[in-house]
Amino acid sequence: MTSRTARRPVLFDHDGALDDLLSLLLLTQYDTVDLRGVTVTPADCLPAPALSATRKILELTGLPHVPTAVGELAGRNPFPLVWRVDALRVDALPVLNRREPATPPVAPSTTTAAGPPAGALPAHERLAAWLLEAGEPVTVLATGPLTNLAWCLDHHPEVEARIEEVVFMGGALDVPGNVDQPGHDGSAEWNVYWDPEAAKRVFDSSLPITLFPLDVTDRVPVTTAFAHAFGRHYGKPLSDLAGSLLALTFGTLETTGLPYCCWDSLTTSYLAEPGICDFDVVHCDVVTEGAGQGRTVRDAAGRPVRSAVAVDPDRFYRHCLDVLTR
Ligand code: RIB
Ligand code: CA
Repeated sequence: MTSRTARRPVLFDHDGALDDLLSLLLLTQYDTVDLRGVTVTPADCLPAPALSATRKILELTGLPHVPTAVGELAGRNPFPLVWRVDALRVDALPVLNRREPATPPVAPSTTTAAGPPAGALPAHERLAAWLLEAGEPVTVLATGPLTNLAWCLDHHPEVEARIEEVVFMGGALDVPGNVDQPGHDGSAEWNVYWDPEAAKRVFDSSLPITLFPLDVTDRVPVTTAFAHAFGRHYGKPLSDLAGSLLALTFGTLETTGLPYCCWDSLTTSYLAEPGICDFDVVHCDVVTEGAGQGRTVRDAAGRPVRSAVAVDPDRFYRHCLDVLTR
């Protein structure tokens, strides 16, 4: 482990959903973090607007120099399209469009929903390059599927030694999953279910993994009080953006039967305030086939992960408000 007095080098691999973008916003504000690059996995998003929103958030927060890359590797089990369009809405928010983007990520004529323009390195190759170029061990924060990281491990095994810690939102150990799809038994969490083989590949490595499964993220739903609290700071751009992202989650319970939770933002808060959660070492494995594919199961013979097992929800909500309204 590097000294925590130094800023921790972080590569952020997200998948462009509302909570991923809230996570990016938090990450830009942490003085404990040296954000080295951001990749967008085309999982719970349309990649082009998710990349565009990512760039706009980096510009809004004074970090336009942070490099970005968009993914083109697809998982086995797609997210519902009705969820993936959220990035279109975020990209159109007034607070992200107060001026023309200074650093358009890709020329509009070459942008496609399928991936990057000709000449740009896709996310998996970019991630490998960043890791190989890194002069010191890097933390990989993954709030989407592990597809890009698994590719790196397969094609550049030497990256394993360059990673200090993988901080991953995913899995469900002792609670039901959140996948409700025909033929599935409901035991999996979406980030693992999208690409079970990738999760298995990363879990089968020796990388230190700090896991934020549904067991803890279920405890931090987006509440009305949390979303409305940002209204009290109306006019501050970061607060307005956070409040808008949270407002856009409303209706999830009514349409899916499950609440929208701060899955990714809780995971991200670990990099600034690790005491929000308590951790235990858990031995587990990933199911890759059948009706339970994508399930993370406790297994005494499985690999150890440091898993969050308890959370102080009030401390988490307060953390977000403190960081984004100051
Ligand atoms: O299962 C929760 C995960 O799916 C989170 O990463 C959230 O952003 C959604 O994509
Ligand atoms: Ca996500």
